[in-house]
Amino acid sequence: MTAKLINGNEIARQIREELKQETAHLKSGHNVVPGLVTILVGQNPASISYVTAKQKISKELGFYSVQDNQPENISEGELLALIEKYNKDPQIHGILVQLPLPKHIHETNVLLAIDPRKDVDGFHPINVGKLMIGEADYLPCTPAGIQQLLIRTGVETSGAEVVVVGRSNIVGKPIANILLQKQKGANATVTICHTGSKNMEFHTKRADILIVAAGKPKAITADMVKEGAVVIDVGVNRIGVTPEGKAKLCGDVDFENVKEKAGAITPVPGGVGPMTITMLMMNTVKAAGIAAGVKHT
Ligand code: GUN
Repeated sequence: MTAKLINGNEIARQIREELKQETAHLKSGHNVVPGLVTILVGQNPASISYVTAKQKISKELGFYSVQDNQPENISEGELLALIEKYNKDPQIHGILVQLPLPKHIHETNVLLAIDPRKDVDGFHPINVGKLMIGEADYLPCTPAGIQQLLIRTGVETSGAEVVVVGRSNIVGKPIANILLQKQKGANATVTICHTGSKNMEFHTKRADILIVAAGKPKAITADMVKEGAVVIDVGVNRIGVTPEGKAKLCGDVDFENVKEKAGAITPVPGGVGPMTITMLMMNTVKAAGIAAGVKHT
């Protein structure tokens, strides 16, 4: 069998269209313009390309958007003071500090400094805790995007065996948490595998829905996948440069072989990636609505 391709570009485009309308409604009906600041420290090429894309899309949706570039040697205190400035700025509803940060800055201190109401990444411990108890305002963007891909392609999650490969705070742990909630688009039986797991294949082969965020090209091969499974590949591995000078990407799944066995699969690029940025925009619209006392639809 050849798997159905889950087109993240198309699903992201649909959601962005909905968000554009919601943004226009917030403006015309409530005089509120969603405001997003993206803070970039240093010159990491991957981070530069991510924040550039975030800025471009936020402008397309009609947001007030600010790109704040800071030098690699900014002190932790200076960065915390900058965040505090945006915490107090009523035009800003969402604050995103692009990770990773230089080694001399303690990431947890930075995430704790962001007002949880403006934490559109969903990384503040208050928002992590709210997700844990099923009361999240902001879901972290990549896991939220994965859930939307499943919902909008009609994949039944309730009662499904979901296996997540990877236990990062950004993807593995939150997607497991989201999908185990007793909620629509969730209610699954969830297993998390990681570098300490014995016999990874035993787990991955049981999965109706296999979510891979291992950070390793071809970590999942066809023999590790059940016939007909839905495979979501979160990996973004840079494996060279295209003739046009763009980064050549591959996922964590051996796509060519796994697509012959899976029921549905996300490509890399064009699967989870475009959803992540779109969910950041959704969280920012939601934050603007909450700040203005308008209910998000
Ligand atoms: N670096 C890689 N992914 C992310 C993300 O989702 N948010 C932030 N802030 N930094 C990242």
